[in-house]
Amino acid sequence: MDVDHLDVTDPSQVAAAAEREVWFHSIDLGRGVVTRGQKTPPALAKELEALRLPDLAGKSVLDIGAYDGFYSFEAERRGAARVVSMDLHVWQLETTLAPEYLADCVARNAPPQPPYRTEWLRWRLDPAGMPGKRRFDLARRALGSRVEPVVQDFMLADPLAVGTFDVVLFLGVLYHTQNPLAALQRVASLSRGLAVIETEAMEMPGAADTALCEFFPTNELNGDYSNWWSPNLRALLGLIQAAGFKRSEVLQGPPPAIPARAGAAPVRYRAIVHAYR
Ligand SMILES: C[S@@+](CC[C@H](N)C(=O)[O-])C[C@H]1O[C@@H](n2cnc3c(N)ncnc32)[C@H](O)[C@@H]1O
Repeated sequence: MDVDHLDVTDPSQVAAAAEREVWFHSIDLGRGVVTRGQKTPPALAKELEALRLPDLAGKSVLDIGAYDGFYSFEAERRGAARVVSMDLHVWQLETTLAPEYLADCVARNAPPQPPYRTEWLRWRLDPAGMPGKRRFDLARRALGSRVEPVVQDFMLADPLAVGTFDVVLFLGVLYHTQNPLAALQRVASLSRGLAVIETEAMEMPGAADTALCEFFPTNELNGDYSNWWSPNLRALLGLIQAAGFKRSEVLQGPPPAIPARAGAAPVRYRAIVHAYR
């Protein structure tokens, strides 16, 4: 049954539809139905707390890389006046195709590539059907939500068309971009207040004073071919400043006192920064 024809007043229908999907976010759809996301409810609760979102009542919020929409729906729940959920890549992709794709790679002895880089997946991407947006749409209907989905590469998002926002959520997206400075410039152009930036980050022992970004030519970071860059804190703050933000506050930085050691590997962590226009 497609999402538009679901009787959302019937929890058994909602639960059955949710069970058919492969979720990234665990979203409480009400009446006892919680989607079984790769990000579990406790993990999301911890993330949410660490982001220290400001009071969102009456604010406009842009959620870049919304995926299944957990943060968009949370912003709406907290009273945001307007929430725009923007995504593209995972919304175009049928998640259940991934095993088929990986089997094809093995058969061709070719390393898998990010969805938006390969001929194979370009052929299977479905920009008209948007199969990967089904989960977001299901949650939106079940919640009776008014968040506005925008199918777009945020790198091409025009502030004159989509507007500028009091709060921009840029969570888990920076390291997926090929050009982090251009990405943060785009985020700045869509912001008129606060941008909440959460990202994969690294620190090279003994090199905290040098702005460094580690590059991942293939799937070196977590086996994921869509990861390109990981900045250290100095580089992240420098990029944020160079992108046009006036001030930034680090909410989550590297673990303290990483001792310098010759030949040491980067220490990986997730950084959270509030950046102000
Ligand atoms: C790791 S997920 C993060 C999801 C969510 N923001 C969170 O933190 O739980 C990255 C998301 O960013 C989206 N994304 C990556 N690059 C994008 C781009 N250029 N434009 C729009 N969405 C993008 C992906 O499709 C995916 O949904």
